[in-house]
Formats: sequence, C-alpha cells, structure tokens
Amino acid sequence: MEADISRLSMPLGEAMFTQRAIRRLRRDPLPTEDIRLVLEAAVKAPNGGNAQPARFVVLTDREQIRAFGALYREAWWAKRRDEGRPWTTRDAIPPDAGSYRFAARLADEIGDAPCIVLAFSTGSGGASSVIPAVQNLMLAARALGIGSVYTTLHPVVMARLYTLLDVPAEAEFHACIPLGYPRGNFGPTQRRPTAETTYWGRWGNPPPWGSG
Ligand SMILES: Cc1cc2nc3c(=O)[nH]c(=O)nc-3n(C[C@H](O)[C@H](O)[C@H](O)COP(=O)(O)O)c2cc1C
Repeated sequence: MEADISRLSMPLGEAMFTQRAIRRLRRDPLPTEDIRLVLEAAVKAPNGGNAQPARFVVLTDREQIRAFGALYREAWWAKRRDEGRPWTTRDAIPPDAGSYRFAARLADEIGDAPCIVLAFSTGSGGASSVIPAVQNLMLAARALGIGSVYTTLHPVVMARLYTLLDVPAEAEFHACIPLGYPRGNFGPTQRRPTAETTYWGRWGNPPPWGSG
C-alpha cells in the first residue's frame, strides 16, 4: 500500500518555523501508518551518490523502550561528565544552564516515549547522508502533530545498544529521535538573526538585509 503523502500538507514554512525540540511526550502510541509516513519522508532526503546508507531501527515495544531508556540516561550523564559539568543530579543543574534541565528530564522520561527512532548508516557516507533524512523525518512528524527531538548517545553505552538491537558492528550510529504527541506546544524557536550568521560573497561581509 502506498503511503498517503497528502497527510503531509502542512505548509512547509509552518512546519519549519514551528518545529522545536519536543522533549515532553505523551505516552499514547503512534499509529503505525504515521511512523511509516515519517520514514517515507526520511528516505526521500538527499544523500551522497544516492547510495542511501541510512538505516532506521524503530522501537515501539514498551519493555524494549524501557531498556533503551536506561542506556540513554546513562549516556546523557556520561556526556555531562565528559564536558566537565559538576552536576550529578537533575536538581543540581542551575536554571540558567540553557536546555540542560529539559534535556535531563528527557533522559529521565525517554523510557516512557511511545516510539524511538535510531538512525544508523551502513557502508560509506556516514552522518552527512543520514542527518538530512533525520531532518525530513522530524519535519514530517511535525506536520502530523508528532513531537520529536534530535539526540545523541555516548560510547559508554554503544556495545550494549548494539547487542540490545542486534545492530551489526559495521553499522554506525548517528542519532536517536524520540517521537510522541507533545505534552507542550509546538511553536517559535529562538535563533540568531540571519544577518549575523550569513556572509555575502566572503567571510565577514554582511548580507544585503543588514549586519549582525
Ligand atoms: C547534534 C544534536 C545533538 C543534540 N543532542 C541533544 C540531546 O542529547 N538531548 C536533548 O534533549 N536535545 C538534544 N538536541 C536538541 C537541541 O538541544 C535543540 O535542537 C536545540 O536546543 C534547539 O531547540 P529548539 O528547536 O526547541 O529551539 C540535539 C540537537 C542536535 C542537532
């Protein structure tokens, strides 16, 4: 059966401009046809030489997601150790520490997400041929009212992750994307003005619409 792409009719601009990191997810399961649709969007992304090295492992089983959630939490705190952060509990993270408090809550709650997509690559191409697919997946999820957030893991859990999911050693892990209906709202994001991030013709030269 063909995927029903007419369900992705949200204006592209609306999807891109309201797609924010959704870390608080409802537990309600996602329809399998919706999961399929976001993956159909993902595989349409550009990739090196059209070699299509991206592979996705989709988790929807409660017990499996709980087991993965424990690894995710361990990985999240291992990354903080690597960064030299002094915190070892969520409460110790200061309120002004950007999105860390929210990310720490996700690390506690990801085991309750209804769906997790793990993105890998096989053969050559690596991250550059997977990340565009992940962004397509997240935009398609937004169009369906499904929240998502791009996350990563840490080497300390990788061997156990590969064993848990039977991932072959030659596959390379790139991203972990929890999916679910949001407990908060989609909405605008805060980004630097393009006048600050864009140079015209050569590095440092402002674009015609102004200088940062
Ligand atoms: C490479 C990468 C790694 C990320 N890792 C994490 C992560 O480990 N945990 C998390 O909660 N969010 C993670 N994020 C999400 C970012 O924190 C989020 O995209 C950023 O803060 C912007 O959020 P906003 O779109 O809601 O403004 C990651 C995003 C990217 C692109």
